[in-house]
Amino acid sequence: MATVLITGCSSGFGKLSALHFARKGDTVFASMRNTAKAGELEQAKQAESLPIEIVQLDVTDDASVEGAVRQVIDAAGGIDVLVNNAGLGLHGPLEETDDDEMKEIFETNFFGAMRVMRAVAPKMREQKSGTIVNVSSLAGRVVAPYGGTYSASKYALEAASEALHYELHPFGIRVLLIEPGGFETAIENNRRLSRRFTEGSPYLELEQRFEQSLTRLPGGNERGDAQDVAEAIYNAVNTDQPKFRYLVGQDAELIGGLRRQMDDEQFEQAMRQTLDFWD
Ligand SMILES: NC(=O)c1ccc[n+]([C@@H]2O[C@H](COP(=O)([O-])OP(=O)(O)OC[C@H]3O[C@@H](n4cnc5c(N)ncnc54)[C@H](OP(=O)(O)O)[C@@H]3O)[C@@H](O)[C@H]2O)c1
Repeated sequence: MATVLITGCSSGFGKLSALHFARKGDTVFASMRNTAKAGELEQAKQAESLPIEIVQLDVTDDASVEGAVRQVIDAAGGIDVLVNNAGLGLHGPLEETDDDEMKEIFETNFFGAMRVMRAVAPKMREQKSGTIVNVSSLAGRVVAPYGGTYSASKYALEAASEALHYELHPFGIRVLLIEPGGFETAIENNRRLSRRFTEGSPYLELEQRFEQSLTRLPGGNERGDAQDVAEAIYNAVNTDQPKFRYLVGQDAELIGGLRRQMDDEQFEQAMRQTLDFWD
């Protein structure tokens, strides 16, 4: 049974992954920046006698990351699986998004994952084994207007993950990407809105039209069951036919699949036609 460290377990994919790995018998260190949010996990742990430890870990804080990883290694002797799941969304046109807003997203989605990877990689190299799961997004493969900052952070995560995949493989460490489409979690409520994107913005009407047009995509109004992502992460880690990228969800498979098959112009044309969005 594996020792698993997961970031961002206060809600969404992180919480469900912690429960799923633990129910399968792995020892899970379920980390979150604010452990006061551990209530539901604590309850499930008690009710089902699950092997879950709650750990404080803020991915933007060096000391917090180092302390959490030390705590896991001291308690379990090693780390078999790291799931870099913590993430934040931001919505708004790039012109109306300031550097500090962009930096918050990159600090969490990109530098956060790098910081935790750097903290666990030495132990995994010493073990000559380990798996690092980076939770990216369909938005790490396909860019939409008003999602530029979030996509840029996930594209950065994808690029670094690809380099890590090559760099860490010789040490027996596997790196993989999970790329979910739209799923029902707290991400929409937690996402930031560019602070200058307000009434009077020249982008407002266009943005509203674009958001409306997204409902024309197959399944455009539906968000998937987040449990599917928890299971996809577990299955990707435990498969005997490993691969690097895993699109998860019908929308991700459809749009990500089309993106793979088409060149840039064909894909843009297909999306504009489907969305009837020409401006
Ligand atoms: N839901 C989707 O449709 C979707 C699709 C594609 C990719 N994703 C990705 O999936 C991952 C999980 O998101 P989710 O959908 O489960 O959203 P969520 O319910 O909002 O969960 C995000 C988690 O990240 C944590 N977090 C944020 N900043 C952090 C920090 N500095 N240190 C540690 N934890 C931090 C949050 O903690 P707090 O409670 O303290 O804020 C929360 O536990 C993210 O990387 C997201 O980009 C989600």
